[in-house]
Amino acid sequence: MSSVLSRLNPQLASLPVYIPGKPIDQVAREHGLDPAGIIKLASNENPLGPSPKALAAMQSALPHMHLYPDGSSHDLKAALASAQGVEPANLVLGNGSNEVLELVAHAFLSPGDEVVVSQYCFAVYPIITALMGARLVTVPALPGFAADIPGMLQAITPRTKAVFLANPNNPTGTLTSREDVAQLLAEVPSDVLLVLDEAYVEFLTDSIDLLPLIRAGVHDNLLLTRTFSKIFGLAGLRLGYGIGSPGLISALEKVRQPFNINSVAQAGAVAALQDSEHIRQTRQNNRAGLEYLERSCAELGLEIVPSHANFILVKVGNGAGVFQALQKQGVITRPMGSYQLPDWLRVSVGTAAENQRFIAALRNIPGR
Ligand SMILES: Cc1ncc(COP(=O)(O)O)c(C=O)c1O
Repeated sequence: MSSVLSRLNPQLASLPVYIPGKPIDQVAREHGLDPAGIIKLASNENPLGPSPKALAAMQSALPHMHLYPDGSSHDLKAALASAQGVEPANLVLGNGSNEVLELVAHAFLSPGDEVVVSQYCFAVYPIITALMGARLVTVPALPGFAADIPGMLQAITPRTKAVFLANPNNPTGTLTSREDVAQLLAEVPSDVLLVLDEAYVEFLTDSIDLLPLIRAGVHDNLLLTRTFSKIFGLAGLRLGYGIGSPGLISALEKVRQPFNINSVAQAGAVAALQDSEHIRQTRQNNRAGLEYLERSCAELGLEIVPSHANFILVKVGNGAGVFQALQKQGVITRPMGSYQLPDWLRVSVGTAAENQRFIAALRNIPGR
């Protein structure tokens, strides 16, 4: 008797699996540790927690949980549109920006299509490409890990449907320059979608503001994606958004589930957008934390990739071994084997105390 599993979509056989940062409770179970003593520097979350204003707004939403959320997220789209100086019709919301990326795949990709990315790109781009049976074209990164923009442009063929680029990039923390972004915008053919993933854009001091292009209605092949998971400290809420032309957005809306943004997320995000003090403190903590981590790694003789985001890539030698040794001491980081960077660890910026604990735990590893 043949099994139903023999009739799965063939692309599932080679689908890459996303390996998330380990949750604190899992590490506590595996190592017999007290969860209260464990710190997680593995998923580029906000170490200051959610905005207090968002917490209060989310509490107020709880008594209404018997009702379906507003499927159009009217108030949140209005708040976001006013914050970004765009129209609600320029916005699509997702259950995390990961879902927005997946909406792109559903709307654009079919077997035989090609997607151009840089080596060391964010892990979700290969997954959504494979999910749709499309082909990933990976362009080798430049020395220092940054994306090779002329190389990516050269890799575009008539089969290319989309180009994905995170700026700053995860896991490298590298930034694509203003000139390179301008070249991409000028030279990506108008029938190829350019997805610029701006998950970490709020951490930049001198960001490349592409919103004027959206406002002016030019480049209707441009989609910017952003998230509430990083600077806003709401990763557990699952909320991200895409900004693009009304035509592109309404295509993405077609493949979105009707109630993909829950009411707690809608309420929390509106309040988080208004909490400029929380954002200011987060930026300040991040800047000081990056400086400390970069300095301390240099003192330990470890190579790092200078970061433009809220994490750093550190060359530790045996990444998997150091990851395990840190974990035994209650410090969760992210090994980079799945990104073909086995010598490196990615460490998110924590609070000052968490960063110090990471460096102390690193020094503590025998043979280091
Ligand atoms: C570059 C990049 N894009 C998108 C995401 C997805 O974030 P979320 O789905 O939480 O919005 C992440 C998360 O780590 C990321 O690093």
